Amino acid sequence: MRADIRYTDVIDGEEFARAQAAADRAAFQHANEIDPETFYCTQHFDRYTQEDHNVWATLVDRRMELLEEQASEVFLDGVRQLGLDEDHVPKVEYVNSRLAALTGWQSRPVPGYLPAKAFFACLAKRQFPTTIVIRPKEKLEYLPEPDIFHDVFGHVPLHADPVFAEFLQTYGKAALLCDDPYHIERLGRLFWFTVEFGLIREHGKVKLYGSGLISSIGESLHALESDDVDRRPFDMDRVCDTPFEIDHYQPVLYVLESFEELRDSMNDYAEQVLGSGTMAGV
Ligand SMILES: [Fe+2]
Repeated sequence: MRADIRYTDVIDGEEFARAQAAADRAAFQHANEIDPETFYCTQHFDRYTQEDHNVWATLVDRRMELLEEQASEVFLDGVRQLGLDEDHVPKVEYVNSRLAALTGWQSRPVPGYLPAKAFFACLAKRQFPTTIVIRPKEKLEYLPEPDIFHDVFGHVPLHADPVFAEFLQTYGKAALLCDDPYHIERLGRLFWFTVEFGLIREHGKVKLYGSGLISSIGESLHALESDDVDRRPFDMDRVCDTPFEIDHYQPVLYVLESFEELRDSMNDYAEQVLGSGTMAGV
């Protein structure tokens, strides 16, 4: 954790320590012993400063200007359906009240990065582990780790869409129950090239939906316009076989034709990894 990510400003210190210890333990627990409720925290909304709200407002303002053109209509519909406040850091409780009626997904505050199994256990329950700190104004353009802008503005609008919602839960269940390192690595690549850096073709134009692109002006322009990017048609096996590096703009991206394509491919892959019927009890 970096010194300028001030988790304990908006999470009580004791709760933060308890949640972090529970999340750390999850790395060593069996899938059905992991209880995500033990690593969720309370967002103390009144502790955000005016400067925090200003950072949020600046980021949303700058980003929406381009996203009206750049982003998938499914993402833009999600932003409208969630009623995200343009001027204030979002209250996750309010976001959740909107999501509940749409897909049942929830955004749940966590004390930073979760071990992979803990993260998957949340997704399997339609709960999205959400970073609730916001970047400092000195780092508006780039922060290597997620913050509430990346997580709520970048990820959560897609959770309002029933097809993407189903995909992400199936992904979580498959990744939680899978013990084969070969498939775990492949599922990590799938997450990267879809949830984080995915593109989709809509009405003949390539649009953004991955959170890493939604939340970054620089990389979004590179992803859509650069001749250096190899934009390949989505193919589950090929995606899962493609390695990636995190420290530079992505030279390879995958383009969906629809979110149904992603959901259906994920359902097939889950059956392949786990065997049919295995996920029913999760
Ligand atoms: Fe992300």
